[in-house]
Amino acid sequence: MDRILIRGGNRLAGRLPISGAKNAALTLMPCALLTDEPLTLRNLPRLADVDSFGHLLNQLGASTQIEGARPEDFGRVMTVRAGRLTATEAPYDIVRKMRASILVLGPLVGRAGEATVSLPGGCAIGNRPIDLHLKALEEMGAAIELAAGYVKATAPGGRLPGGRVSFPVVSVGATENAVMAAVTAKGGTRIENAAREPEIVDLCNCLVAMGASISGIGTETLEIEGRDRLHGATYRVMPDRIEAGSYACAAAITGGSLDLVGADAGDMRATLDALIEAGVTIEEHKDGVRVEASNGLAPLTLSTAPYPGFATDMQAQFMAMLCKANGASVLTETIFENRYMHVPELARMGADIQVRGRTAVVRGVDKLVGAPVMATDLRASMSLILAGLAAEGETVVQRVYHLDRGYERLEEKLSAVGADIERVGDG
Ligand code: UD1
Repeated sequence: MDRILIRGGNRLAGRLPISGAKNAALTLMPCALLTDEPLTLRNLPRLADVDSFGHLLNQLGASTQIEGARPEDFGRVMTVRAGRLTATEAPYDIVRKMRASILVLGPLVGRAGEATVSLPGGCAIGNRPIDLHLKALEEMGAAIELAAGYVKATAPGGRLPGGRVSFPVVSVGATENAVMAAVTAKGGTRIENAAREPEIVDLCNCLVAMGASISGIGTETLEIEGRDRLHGATYRVMPDRIEAGSYACAAAITGGSLDLVGADAGDMRATLDALIEAGVTIEEHKDGVRVEASNGLAPLTLSTAPYPGFATDMQAQFMAMLCKANGASVLTETIFENRYMHVPELARMGADIQVRGRTAVVRGVDKLVGAPVMATDLRASMSLILAGLAAEGETVVQRVYHLDRGYERLEEKLSAVGADIERVGDG
C-alpha cells in the first residue's frame, strides 16, 4: 500500500490549480441515468471515487467514455450514455466502498420506477443513516421496502406522483436524491429545508440544462415541476471548494503564499472568513484566490454547520492549522458524531488537543514533530498532510487510499509549490 512521505518545514509559494469538485461530480454523474441521451461532464476530477461511480453506472447499463484526457491534464471530460438501463440495483460491494452510491436511488426511481440499493452500513465518521433519503422518496409517493440489507423503492405505476418533502434535518445527499427523483415525476414537488450547498446549486443547474424545471435554486425551498423527459447536455463541474480550502490551510500553516487558480471565493466564504480572522491575507481575483500568511496565526472559535456555515469537511484541516496558532482555539463539530479521529494522530506529532464530546480545544504549540501516522478518512488524512508540511522532520502518512478518493494528484500539486513530499510504494 502506498504511503506519503513529507519532510516538513518548507514554506509553500506559487500557483496551485484547483480541480473539479468531488462532491459535485458524484451527484452530477447519476443525473445521466435520467435521460437516454448523452450527458457530457467537463472538469471532472481524476479521483478514485469518480472512477468507482463510473463503474457503478456501467453496472446499471450506462456507457462511460473519457475523452481527450492526456495524463498531464487536470480535469477530464466524461460522456455518460444511459440509452437503456439493464439493472436497477446498486450492490453491497460498491456501496460499501463508496457511500455516495446511494445517489443512484433518486434517479433510478425517476427513470425506471424502481431502485434497489444496499444499505451503506457503518462509516468512519459516524452512523450516517439514510432515513431522510427514504422519507423524501416516500413523501413523493414511492413505496419503500427493506430486506436483507437492501432498500427497494418503487413508484406506483412506474412514475412518482411528486409531493411535499419536508426535511427535519438538513441533508446534502437526501436533498440531492429528492431533487433527482422529482425532476421526472408526474406532478410537482416542493422540498422544504433543502440543503443549500454549492454542489446542490451545481446539480440543479445541470438538471435545468437537461430540461428540468426547478425554482428556488440556492434557497432552502425548491419547487420542481416534473417533466415527461429530460434531454442530454454538456456541463462543467464546479471547482472543489474543499480542496481549495485545504490548500489555503497549507499556505497558512507553512507561513506561505499560494495562488489557488480556479477557486471560487463565493462558494467558500465561511472558510475564507475564518482564515481572515486567523490573520491570513486573502485576495480574490478573476482567476481564483490568493492566500498569504506571514505574521503568525490567531486562534479561532468555530462551529461546523450546514452551508453557508463553516463546512464539516474543513474541520480537520483547520484543526491541524490551529495547532500552530498563538493561543487556544475551540472547535465544535455539529454535523457528524465521530469526526475527531485525526486527533490522536495529530497528538503523536506533538499537538495539544483535548476533546470533550463534540468540542475540541486546540492549544497552539511551538512546534509539530514528524511521525508515522495513519489516515482514517478523507479529510482527516488531509489534516495529517498539513501537519506534516509544518512539522520538523519526516512524516509518513499511511493508508493513502483515503486521500486518493478526494485529492487529485496531491503530492504533485504540493511539490510544485515547494513541499518536500513524495509517494512511496511498498516495494
Ligand atoms: C455530504 C458530503 C460530505 C459532507 C456532508 C456534510 C458528498 C458525497 N458528501 O455527505 O462530504 O461532509 O455532506 O456537508 O457530497 N443524516 C441522517 N439521515 C439521513 C442522511 C443524513 O440522519 O438520511 C444526518 C447525517 O448523519 C449527518 C447529517 O444528517 O449527521 C448531514 O449529513 P448529510 O448532509 O446527509 O451528508 P452526506 O450527504 O452523507
